[in-house]
Amino acid sequence: MIKVSAPGKIHLLGEHAVVYGKPALLAAVDLRVTVILSPVIVSDQRERGNLKKIIEPIIKKYLKIKTIPPYRLEISSQIPVGSGLGSSAAISAAYIAALLSYVGYKWDLNLVNELTFEAEKVFHGNPSGGDNITVVYGGLIYYTKGEPFQSPPSIPPKLAKNFILINTGKPKETTKEMVEMVSVKFRKIFDNQEQLVKELLLAIRDGNENQLIQIIRAGEKNLESMGVVSKSVQSIIRKIEDSGGAAKICGAGGKTGPTGVLLCYHPKPSIIQNIAISQHLDYFRTALGVEGLRQE
Ligand code: MEV
Repeated sequence: MIKVSAPGKIHLLGEHAVVYGKPALLAAVDLRVTVILSPVIVSDQRERGNLKKIIEPIIKKYLKIKTIPPYRLEISSQIPVGSGLGSSAAISAAYIAALLSYVGYKWDLNLVNELTFEAEKVFHGNPSGGDNITVVYGGLIYYTKGEPFQSPPSIPPKLAKNFILINTGKPKETTKEMVEMVSVKFRKIFDNQEQLVKELLLAIRDGNENQLIQIIRAGEKNLESMGVVSKSVQSIIRKIEDSGGAAKICGAGGKTGPTGVLLCYHPKPSIIQNIAISQHLDYFRTALGVEGLRQE
């Protein structure tokens, strides 16, 4: 039996702009997906058929093999699907690593990252690569497409304890559709996001709460200008801001209804909890910057 797990991710800032060559700051979150592969005599082809159809050809092509011995695939996940937490990247990464182990191939993180990026292209069309890097390597990731990623120091505990995630629900639109909707016409906004991402890195390094709140608010405004935050979610975010906090979508977002998970920050996080409760939405705390992919 082979067991591999991978964390989800959030964008602290820079989603969408990262597709257009701007830096993004991401963190691995301690919601994990676990993949278990066990040998069987005959595998059930119906089981997770679509996922198998995407991942197996990537492995076969890389290893130049025609068949993979039958196996049973079990996936258990704490990551809400399609909600900006990188569930597709996390599932692909854990499955790819497990499958490589299953066929007796000694993998490393670089290889799993490379092959997970191939899977992300099938899922999302034009991914930046930031999601797969974050779930594979873990920690905090500063990433610009086409450049080696950097791992900034972790978020100081006095800031880290004040983040909360609110789940607004699964967006009607897919990540692929949202990425296709955003275009190069937002170049000026992308430039501003780049500036904000750099400032955010400094605010985190310095433990500057006030700066952090202002930057998340400004970054969220930019995302709204790109059209990736629905009106209903904007109104929840305004409530959080009016209460002294900040919140933003943390992935592709949504145009019409739910936008997936919101990354929220407040000097008094209980205020965010109360807002979530008043909106009948789930909220949860999670560590930011956890370990990436690992064999269990
Ligand atoms: C999706 O989690 C983040 C986007 O920036 C797309 C990408 O980076 O591939 C919207």
